[in-house]
Amino acid sequence: MAQRETWTSRIGFIFAAVGSAVGLGNIWSFPFQTATNGGAAFLVVYLLAVALIGFPTMLIEFVIGRRGEQNPVEAFRKIGHGQWSFVGGLGLFSSLLTLAFYSVVGGWVLSYIVGSATGSYFGDPGTYFGAVSAGPTAVAAHAVFMAITIGIVALGVTGGIERATTFMIPAILVLLVGLGAWATTLEGATAGYNYYLSPDFGVIANNFGSIVPPAMGQAFFTLSLGFSVMIAYASYLGRDDSLPADGGAIVVVNTLVALLAGFVVFPILFATGGAEGAGSGGAGTAFVALAGAFGNLPAGQIIGFVFFVVLLFAALSSSISLLEVPVSYITEHYGYRRSTTAVATGVFIFLVGVPATFGTEWLNFYNDVVFKFLLPIVVLLLAVFIGWFADTDAMDELGRGSSVGRSFKTVWLWWVRIVVPIAVVVTLYLGIKALYTGLSTGAYF
Ligand code: PHE
Repeated sequence: MAQRETWTSRIGFIFAAVGSAVGLGNIWSFPFQTATNGGAAFLVVYLLAVALIGFPTMLIEFVIGRRGEQNPVEAFRKIGHGQWSFVGGLGLFSSLLTLAFYSVVGGWVLSYIVGSATGSYFGDPGTYFGAVSAGPTAVAAHAVFMAITIGIVALGVTGGIERATTFMIPAILVLLVGLGAWATTLEGATAGYNYYLSPDFGVIANNFGSIVPPAMGQAFFTLSLGFSVMIAYASYLGRDDSLPADGGAIVVVNTLVALLAGFVVFPILFATGGAEGAGSGGAGTAFVALAGAFGNLPAGQIIGFVFFVVLLFAALSSSISLLEVPVSYITEHYGYRRSTTAVATGVFIFLVGVPATFGTEWLNFYNDVVFKFLLPIVVLLLAVFIGWFADTDAMDELGRGSSVGRSFKTVWLWWVRIVVPIAVVVTLYLGIKALYTGLSTGAYF
Protein backbone atom coordinates (compact mmCIF):
# COMPACT_ATOMS: atom_id res chain seq x y z
CA MET A 1 0.00 0.00 0.00
CA ALA A 2 1.23 3.46 -0.88
CA GLN A 3 2.53 5.67 1.88
CA ARG A 4 -0.24 7.86 3.32
CA GLU A 5 0.10 11.54 2.53
CA THR A 6 0.42 14.10 5.31
CA TRP A 7 0.00 17.89 5.31
CA THR A 8 3.31 19.54 4.61
CA SER A 9 2.99 22.01 7.47
CA ARG A 10 0.87 22.96 10.40
CA ILE A 11 -0.42 26.01 8.58
CA GLY A 12 -1.26 23.79 5.59
CA PHE A 13 -3.59 21.77 7.78
CA ILE A 14 -5.11 24.89 9.31
CA PHE A 15 -5.77 26.43 5.89
CA ALA A 16 -7.35 23.21 4.64
CA ALA A 17 -9.59 22.92 7.70
CA VAL A 18 -10.51 26.62 7.62
CA GLY A 19 -11.23 26.13 3.94
CA SER A 20 -13.67 23.39 4.76
CA ALA A 21 -15.30 25.43 7.49
CA VAL A 22 -15.55 28.69 5.58
CA GLY A 23 -18.16 28.21 2.91
CA LEU A 24 -21.54 29.23 1.62
CA GLY A 25 -22.69 28.81 5.21
CA ASN A 26 -20.57 31.73 6.40
CA ILE A 27 -20.99 34.20 3.61
CA TRP A 28 -24.43 33.46 2.34
CA SER A 29 -26.50 31.97 5.11
CA PHE A 30 -25.02 33.32 8.35
CA PRO A 31 -25.67 37.05 7.85
CA PHE A 32 -29.29 36.44 6.88
CA GLN A 33 -29.95 34.06 9.73
CA THR A 34 -28.56 36.59 12.15
CA ALA A 35 -30.59 39.45 10.75
CA THR A 36 -33.87 37.56 10.70
CA ASN A 37 -33.47 35.85 14.09
CA GLY A 38 -32.86 38.79 16.37
CA GLY A 39 -29.54 40.34 15.28
CA ALA A 40 -26.94 40.61 18.00
CA ALA A 41 -29.11 38.57 20.31
CA PHE A 42 -29.01 35.62 17.90
CA LEU A 43 -25.32 36.19 17.53
CA VAL A 44 -24.85 35.60 21.24
CA VAL A 45 -26.71 32.27 21.05
CA TYR A 46 -24.76 31.28 17.97
CA LEU A 47 -21.39 32.18 19.45
CA LEU A 48 -22.23 30.19 22.56
CA ALA A 49 -23.21 27.21 20.39
CA VAL A 50 -19.94 27.47 18.47
CA ALA A 51 -17.75 27.83 21.55
CA LEU A 52 -19.51 25.49 23.95
CA ILE A 53 -20.69 22.73 21.62
CA GLY A 54 -18.94 23.18 18.28
CA PHE A 55 -15.38 23.53 19.54
CA PRO A 56 -15.46 20.46 21.83
CA THR A 57 -17.06 18.47 19.01
CA MET A 58 -14.32 19.50 16.63
CA LEU A 59 -11.81 18.07 19.09
CA ILE A 60 -13.74 14.78 19.04
CA GLU A 61 -13.28 14.48 15.28
CA PHE A 62 -9.63 15.56 15.47
CA VAL A 63 -8.88 12.97 18.11
CA ILE A 64 -10.48 10.15 16.11
CA GLY A 65 -8.74 11.21 12.91
CA ARG A 66 -5.24 11.64 14.27
CA ARG A 67 -5.45 8.53 16.44
CA GLY A 68 -6.84 6.42 13.61
CA GLU A 69 -4.60 7.68 10.81
CA GLN A 70 -7.08 6.14 8.41
CA ASN A 71 -10.10 7.20 6.39
CA PRO A 72 -13.11 8.06 8.57
CA VAL A 73 -14.63 4.59 8.34
CA GLU A 74 -11.57 2.52 9.11
CA ALA A 75 -10.24 4.95 11.70
CA PHE A 76 -12.66 3.42 14.20
CA ARG A 77 -11.24 -0.05 13.62
CA LYS A 78 -7.69 1.26 14.01
CA ILE A 79 -8.61 2.64 17.41
CA GLY A 80 -9.95 -0.79 18.33
CA HIS A 81 -13.69 -0.14 17.98
CA GLY A 82 -14.57 -1.54 14.58
CA GLN A 83 -18.22 -1.87 15.52
CA TRP A 84 -18.46 1.95 15.54
CA SER A 85 -17.29 2.27 11.93
CA PHE A 86 -20.89 2.80 10.86
CA VAL A 87 -20.73 6.26 12.46
CA GLY A 88 -17.93 7.23 10.11
CA GLY A 89 -19.96 5.68 7.32
CA LEU A 90 -22.98 7.76 8.26
CA GLY A 91 -20.85 10.88 8.15
CA LEU A 92 -19.59 9.79 4.75
CA PHE A 93 -23.17 9.43 3.55
CA SER A 94 -23.94 12.96 4.82
CA SER A 95 -20.94 14.26 2.92
CA LEU A 96 -22.17 12.66 -0.31
CA LEU A 97 -25.65 14.04 0.08
CA THR A 98 -24.47 17.50 1.09
CA LEU A 99 -22.01 17.79 -1.77
CA ALA A 100 -24.80 16.83 -4.18
CA PHE A 101 -26.81 19.97 -3.42
CA TYR A 102 -23.89 22.15 -2.34
CA SER A 103 -22.50 21.77 -5.84
CA VAL A 104 -25.78 22.89 -7.37
CA VAL A 105 -25.51 26.15 -5.43
CA GLY A 106 -21.83 26.30 -6.35
CA GLY A 107 -23.06 26.22 -9.94
CA TRP A 108 -25.32 29.22 -9.28
CA VAL A 109 -22.28 31.09 -7.98
CA LEU A 110 -20.41 30.33 -11.20
CA SER A 111 -23.36 31.69 -13.19
CA TYR A 112 -23.31 34.86 -11.11
CA ILE A 113 -19.62 35.36 -11.78
CA VAL A 114 -20.35 35.14 -15.49
CA GLY A 115 -23.42 37.32 -15.01
CA SER A 116 -21.35 39.98 -13.21
CA ALA A 117 -18.78 40.03 -15.98
CA THR A 118 -21.39 40.35 -18.71
CA GLY A 119 -23.87 42.44 -16.74
CA SER A 120 -26.66 40.08 -17.68
CA TYR A 121 -28.46 40.01 -14.32
CA PHE A 122 -28.55 43.78 -13.92
CA GLY A 123 -31.81 44.40 -15.69
CA ASP A 124 -33.99 41.79 -14.05
CA PRO A 125 -32.33 39.85 -11.20
CA GLY A 126 -35.43 37.77 -10.46
CA THR A 127 -35.66 36.39 -13.97
CA TYR A 128 -31.93 35.79 -14.07
CA PHE A 129 -32.08 33.76 -10.89
CA GLY A 130 -34.94 31.70 -12.29
CA ALA A 131 -32.96 31.00 -15.44
CA VAL A 132 -29.71 29.94 -13.75
CA SER A 133 -31.06 28.13 -10.69
CA ALA A 134 -33.09 25.51 -12.50
CA GLY A 135 -33.07 23.65 -15.78
CA PRO A 136 -30.22 23.03 -18.23
CA THR A 137 -28.11 26.03 -17.18
CA ALA A 138 -28.18 24.86 -13.58
CA VAL A 139 -27.23 21.31 -14.58
CA ALA A 140 -24.34 22.56 -16.72
CA ALA A 141 -23.04 24.89 -14.00
CA HIS A 142 -23.40 22.10 -11.41
CA ALA A 143 -21.28 19.92 -13.72
CA VAL A 144 -18.57 22.56 -14.04
CA PHE A 145 -18.43 23.16 -10.30
CA MET A 146 -18.18 19.43 -9.66
CA ALA A 147 -15.49 19.07 -12.32
CA ILE A 148 -13.31 21.68 -10.59
CA THR A 149 -13.86 19.94 -7.25
CA ILE A 150 -12.90 16.59 -8.76
CA GLY A 151 -9.80 18.10 -10.36
CA ILE A 152 -8.48 19.46 -7.07
CA VAL A 153 -9.17 16.28 -5.08
CA ALA A 154 -7.63 14.13 -7.82
CA LEU A 155 -4.37 16.03 -7.37
CA GLY A 156 -4.04 14.74 -3.84
CA VAL A 157 -4.01 15.93 -0.25
CA THR A 158 -0.95 18.14 -0.53
CA GLY A 159 -0.75 18.72 -4.28
CA GLY A 160 -4.47 19.45 -4.58
CA ILE A 161 -6.30 20.30 -1.36
CA GLU A 162 -3.46 21.93 0.56
CA ARG A 163 -2.19 23.88 -2.41
CA ALA A 164 -5.66 25.12 -3.41
CA THR A 165 -6.66 26.20 0.09
CA THR A 166 -3.32 27.85 0.78
CA PHE A 167 -4.15 30.10 -2.14
CA MET A 168 -7.89 30.51 -1.60
CA ILE A 169 -8.09 31.25 2.13
CA PRO A 170 -5.77 34.28 2.09
CA ALA A 171 -7.55 35.46 -1.05
CA ILE A 172 -10.94 35.20 0.66
CA LEU A 173 -9.68 37.10 3.70
CA VAL A 174 -8.06 39.91 1.72
CA LEU A 175 -10.97 40.36 -0.68
CA LEU A 176 -13.58 40.23 2.06
CA VAL A 177 -11.74 42.81 4.16
CA GLY A 178 -11.46 44.95 1.03
CA LEU A 179 -15.17 44.64 0.32
CA GLY A 180 -15.97 45.40 3.96
CA ALA A 181 -13.81 48.54 3.90
CA TRP A 182 -15.44 49.68 0.68
CA ALA A 183 -18.88 48.98 2.15
CA THR A 184 -18.26 51.44 5.00
CA THR A 185 -18.30 54.23 2.41
CA LEU A 186 -21.81 53.38 1.24
CA GLU A 187 -24.72 55.57 2.10
CA GLY A 188 -26.70 52.73 3.65
CA ALA A 189 -23.85 51.40 5.77
CA THR A 190 -25.17 52.44 9.17
CA ALA A 191 -28.70 51.28 8.41
CA GLY A 192 -27.24 48.00 7.23
CA TYR A 193 -25.19 47.48 10.38
CA ASN A 194 -28.20 48.30 12.51
CA TYR A 195 -30.39 45.83 10.71
CA TYR A 196 -27.69 43.18 10.98
CA LEU A 197 -26.81 43.54 14.62
CA SER A 198 -29.46 45.53 16.46
CA PRO A 199 -30.05 43.32 19.47
CA ASP A 200 -33.59 42.14 19.84
CA PHE A 201 -33.66 40.01 22.93
CA GLY A 202 -37.43 39.89 22.66
CA VAL A 203 -37.12 37.76 19.55
CA ILE A 204 -34.91 35.31 21.41
CA ALA A 205 -37.12 35.22 24.48
CA ASN A 206 -40.29 34.62 22.51
CA ASN A 207 -38.88 32.17 20.00
CA PHE A 208 -36.31 30.24 21.95
CA GLY A 209 -37.49 26.90 20.59
CA SER A 210 -37.20 28.06 17.03
CA ILE A 211 -33.86 29.81 17.44
CA VAL A 212 -31.79 27.19 19.21
CA PRO A 213 -32.01 24.56 16.45
CA PRO A 214 -30.85 26.85 13.64
CA ALA A 215 -28.12 28.31 15.86
CA MET A 216 -26.92 24.84 16.77
CA GLY A 217 -27.32 23.42 13.28
CA GLN A 218 -25.47 26.37 11.83
CA ALA A 219 -22.70 25.96 14.41
CA PHE A 220 -22.12 22.34 13.40
CA PHE A 221 -22.52 22.93 9.70
CA THR A 222 -20.25 25.94 9.56
CA LEU A 223 -17.52 24.02 11.39
CA SER A 224 -18.01 21.02 9.05
CA LEU A 225 -18.84 18.73 11.97
CA GLY A 226 -20.83 15.52 11.66
CA PHE A 227 -19.68 14.84 8.11
CA SER A 228 -16.49 12.90 8.87
CA VAL A 229 -14.60 15.73 7.18
CA MET A 230 -12.53 16.76 10.18
CA ILE A 231 -11.79 13.10 10.92
CA ALA A 232 -10.39 12.73 7.42
CA TYR A 233 -8.39 15.97 7.57
CA ALA A 234 -6.92 15.19 11.01
CA SER A 235 -5.89 11.74 9.77
CA TYR A 236 -3.34 13.45 7.51
CA LEU A 237 -1.70 15.27 10.42
CA GLY A 238 1.09 12.80 11.00
CA ARG A 239 2.54 15.20 13.54
CA ASP A 240 2.14 16.20 17.12
CA ASP A 241 0.75 19.70 16.98
CA SER A 242 -1.65 20.88 19.61
CA LEU A 243 -5.19 19.89 18.63
CA PRO A 244 -6.86 22.40 20.98
CA ALA A 245 -4.69 25.24 19.65
CA ASP A 246 -5.30 24.35 16.01
CA GLY A 247 -9.02 23.81 16.62
CA GLY A 248 -9.23 27.15 18.42
CA ALA A 249 -7.56 28.96 15.53
CA ILE A 250 -9.92 27.33 13.02
CA VAL A 251 -13.02 28.24 15.04
CA VAL A 252 -11.90 31.85 15.47
CA VAL A 253 -11.06 32.44 11.81
CA ASN A 254 -14.28 30.78 10.69
CA THR A 255 -16.34 33.00 13.00
CA LEU A 256 -14.53 36.15 11.89
CA VAL A 257 -15.25 35.38 8.25
CA ALA A 258 -18.94 34.87 9.00
CA LEU A 259 -19.14 38.16 10.93
CA LEU A 260 -17.26 40.01 8.25
CA ALA A 261 -19.62 38.73 5.58
CA GLY A 262 -22.49 40.53 7.28
CA PHE A 263 -20.51 43.75 7.24
CA VAL A 264 -20.26 43.40 3.49
CA VAL A 265 -23.74 42.18 2.64
CA PHE A 266 -25.97 44.55 4.59
CA PRO A 267 -24.46 47.92 3.65
CA ILE A 268 -24.75 46.81 0.02
CA LEU A 269 -28.40 45.87 0.41
CA PHE A 270 -29.23 49.03 2.34
CA ALA A 271 -27.41 51.28 -0.11
CA THR A 272 -30.02 50.34 -2.65
CA GLY A 273 -33.20 49.91 -0.69
CA GLY A 274 -32.95 47.49 2.20
CA ALA A 275 -33.01 43.83 2.99
CA GLU A 276 -36.74 43.28 2.79
CA GLY A 277 -37.31 39.57 2.39
CA ALA A 278 -33.71 38.92 1.42
CA GLY A 279 -33.08 36.20 3.94
CA SER A 280 -36.44 34.81 4.78
CA GLY A 281 -37.82 33.61 1.51
CA GLY A 282 -35.72 30.51 1.04
CA ALA A 283 -32.64 29.52 -0.80
CA GLY A 284 -32.67 32.01 -3.63
CA THR A 285 -33.87 35.30 -2.23
CA ALA A 286 -30.47 36.45 -1.07
CA PHE A 287 -29.06 35.92 -4.53
CA VAL A 288 -31.82 37.97 -6.08
CA ALA A 289 -31.55 40.76 -3.53
CA LEU A 290 -27.79 41.04 -3.79
CA ALA A 291 -27.77 40.87 -7.56
CA GLY A 292 -30.40 43.60 -7.59
CA ALA A 293 -28.20 45.75 -5.37
CA PHE A 294 -25.11 45.23 -7.52
CA GLY A 295 -27.17 46.29 -10.52
CA ASN A 296 -27.88 49.64 -8.88
CA LEU A 297 -24.51 50.53 -7.40
CA PRO A 298 -22.04 52.72 -9.26
CA ALA A 299 -19.24 50.14 -9.22
CA GLY A 300 -21.70 47.27 -8.93
CA GLN A 301 -20.36 45.21 -11.77
CA ILE A 302 -16.83 44.93 -10.45
CA ILE A 303 -17.94 44.66 -6.82
CA GLY A 304 -20.43 41.95 -7.74
CA PHE A 305 -17.74 40.09 -9.63
CA VAL A 306 -15.35 40.17 -6.68
CA PHE A 307 -18.10 39.19 -4.24
CA PHE A 308 -19.08 36.13 -6.24
CA VAL A 309 -15.44 35.13 -6.72
CA VAL A 310 -15.05 35.17 -2.94
CA LEU A 311 -18.18 33.05 -2.67
CA LEU A 312 -16.79 30.62 -5.26
CA PHE A 313 -13.49 30.18 -3.39
CA ALA A 314 -15.39 29.62 -0.17
CA ALA A 315 -17.68 27.05 -1.80
CA LEU A 316 -14.82 25.21 -3.51
CA SER A 317 -12.61 25.00 -0.45
CA SER A 318 -15.58 23.33 1.27
CA SER A 319 -16.67 21.07 -1.57
CA ILE A 320 -13.22 19.51 -1.88
CA SER A 321 -13.38 18.49 1.78
CA LEU A 322 -16.76 16.86 1.20
CA LEU A 323 -15.43 14.87 -1.75
CA GLU A 324 -12.27 13.91 0.11
CA VAL A 325 -14.29 11.85 2.63
CA PRO A 326 -15.57 9.17 0.19
CA VAL A 327 -12.40 9.36 -1.89
CA SER A 328 -10.17 8.64 1.09
CA TYR A 329 -12.33 5.67 2.05
CA ILE A 330 -12.55 4.14 -1.42
CA THR A 331 -8.87 4.55 -2.24
CA GLU A 332 -7.77 3.06 1.07
CA HIS A 333 -10.35 0.33 1.30
CA TYR A 334 -10.37 -0.89 -2.27
CA GLY A 335 -6.95 0.28 -3.35
CA TYR A 336 -8.21 2.19 -6.39
CA ARG A 337 -6.26 5.10 -7.72
CA ARG A 338 -7.12 8.50 -6.27
CA SER A 339 -7.75 10.12 -9.66
CA THR A 340 -10.06 7.36 -10.90
CA THR A 341 -11.90 7.34 -7.59
CA ALA A 342 -12.31 11.11 -7.56
CA VAL A 343 -13.82 11.08 -11.05
CA ALA A 344 -16.14 8.11 -10.43
CA THR A 345 -17.37 9.38 -7.05
CA GLY A 346 -17.72 12.91 -8.34
CA VAL A 347 -19.83 11.80 -11.30
CA PHE A 348 -22.04 9.76 -9.01
CA ILE A 349 -22.54 12.72 -6.66
CA PHE A 350 -23.24 14.95 -9.63
CA LEU A 351 -26.09 12.63 -10.62
CA VAL A 352 -27.49 12.58 -7.09
CA GLY A 353 -27.52 16.39 -7.20
CA VAL A 354 -29.36 16.73 -10.48
CA PRO A 355 -32.84 16.64 -8.86
CA ALA A 356 -31.83 19.72 -6.85
CA THR A 357 -31.82 21.61 -10.14
CA PHE A 358 -35.52 20.88 -10.65
CA GLY A 359 -36.49 23.50 -8.13
CA THR A 360 -35.64 24.81 -4.71
CA GLU A 361 -38.10 22.43 -3.00
CA TRP A 362 -35.73 19.62 -3.83
CA LEU A 363 -32.78 21.55 -2.58
CA ASN A 364 -34.62 22.22 0.64
CA PHE A 365 -35.44 18.56 0.97
CA TYR A 366 -31.78 17.51 0.79
CA ASN A 367 -30.89 20.34 3.14
CA ASP A 368 -33.53 19.24 5.65
CA VAL A 369 -32.50 15.59 5.67
CA VAL A 370 -28.92 16.55 6.44
CA PHE A 371 -29.63 19.37 8.90
CA LYS A 372 -32.44 17.91 10.90
CA PHE A 373 -31.48 14.26 11.06
CA LEU A 374 -28.12 13.07 9.83
CA LEU A 375 -25.97 15.81 11.29
CA PRO A 376 -27.29 15.74 14.87
CA ILE A 377 -27.43 11.94 14.92
CA VAL A 378 -23.80 11.62 13.82
CA VAL A 379 -22.61 14.19 16.35
CA LEU A 380 -24.56 12.47 19.11
CA LEU A 381 -23.02 9.09 18.26
CA LEU A 382 -19.53 10.59 18.07
CA ALA A 383 -19.90 12.17 21.50
CA VAL A 384 -21.20 8.96 23.07
CA PHE A 385 -18.44 6.94 21.43
CA ILE A 386 -15.60 9.18 22.54
CA GLY A 387 -17.08 10.04 25.91
CA TRP A 388 -18.00 6.55 27.04
CA PHE A 389 -16.26 3.97 24.89
CA ALA A 390 -12.92 5.38 23.78
CA ASP A 391 -12.31 7.87 26.58
CA THR A 392 -8.86 6.71 27.59
CA ASP A 393 -7.51 6.85 24.05
CA ALA A 394 -9.24 10.17 23.51
CA MET A 395 -7.72 11.81 26.59
CA ASP A 396 -4.30 10.54 25.64
CA GLU A 397 -4.59 11.76 22.06
CA LEU A 398 -5.91 15.17 23.07
CA GLY A 399 -2.84 15.72 25.22
CA ARG A 400 -0.34 14.76 22.53
CA GLY A 401 1.66 17.74 21.36
CA SER A 402 -0.34 20.11 23.47
CA SER A 403 0.39 21.90 26.68
CA VAL A 404 -3.17 21.67 27.99
CA GLY A 405 -3.30 20.34 31.49
CA ARG A 406 -5.13 17.45 33.02
CA SER A 407 -8.03 19.66 34.10
CA PHE A 408 -8.70 20.85 30.53
CA LYS A 409 -8.84 17.27 29.36
CA THR A 410 -11.10 16.19 32.19
CA VAL A 411 -13.52 19.05 31.67
CA TRP A 412 -13.55 18.29 27.96
CA LEU A 413 -14.29 14.61 28.58
CA TRP A 414 -17.21 15.30 30.90
CA TRP A 415 -18.48 17.95 28.56
CA VAL A 416 -18.41 15.41 25.71
CA ARG A 417 -20.04 12.80 27.91
CA ILE A 418 -22.92 14.90 29.19
CA VAL A 419 -23.32 18.41 27.81
CA VAL A 420 -22.81 17.77 24.10
CA PRO A 421 -25.28 14.84 23.97
CA ILE A 422 -27.93 16.80 25.88
CA ALA A 423 -27.51 19.82 23.62
CA VAL A 424 -27.80 17.65 20.52
CA VAL A 425 -30.82 15.72 21.78
CA VAL A 426 -32.61 18.98 22.57
CA THR A 427 -31.77 20.27 19.11
CA LEU A 428 -32.97 17.08 17.50
CA TYR A 429 -36.21 17.20 19.46
CA LEU A 430 -36.89 20.84 18.66
CA GLY A 431 -35.98 20.23 15.05
CA ILE A 432 -38.39 17.33 14.68
CA LYS A 433 -41.08 19.25 16.49
CA ALA A 434 -40.53 22.14 14.12
CA LEU A 435 -41.19 19.79 11.21
CA TYR A 436 -44.76 19.55 12.39
CA THR A 437 -45.19 23.20 13.15
CA GLY A 438 -43.65 24.39 9.91
CA LEU A 439 -40.76 26.30 11.45
CA SER A 440 -37.47 26.47 9.67
CA THR A 441 -34.68 24.94 11.69
CA GLY A 442 -31.85 24.97 9.31
CA ALA A 443 -29.96 27.27 7.13
CA TYR A 444 -29.78 26.99 3.48
CA PHE A 445 -26.22 26.52 4.49
N1 PHE B 1 -18.71 24.44 6.49
C1 PHE B 1 -19.17 24.65 5.17
C2 PHE B 1 -19.98 25.94 5.06
O1 PHE B 1 -20.14 26.65 5.99
C3 PHE B 1 -20.00 23.53 4.62
C4 PHE B 1 -19.52 22.18 4.90
C5 PHE B 1 -20.24 21.35 5.70
C6 PHE B 1 -18.32 21.72 4.38
C7 PHE B 1 -19.80 20.10 6.00
C8 PHE B 1 -17.87 20.48 4.68
C9 PHE B 1 -18.60 19.67 5.50
O2 PHE B 1 -20.47 26.27 4.02
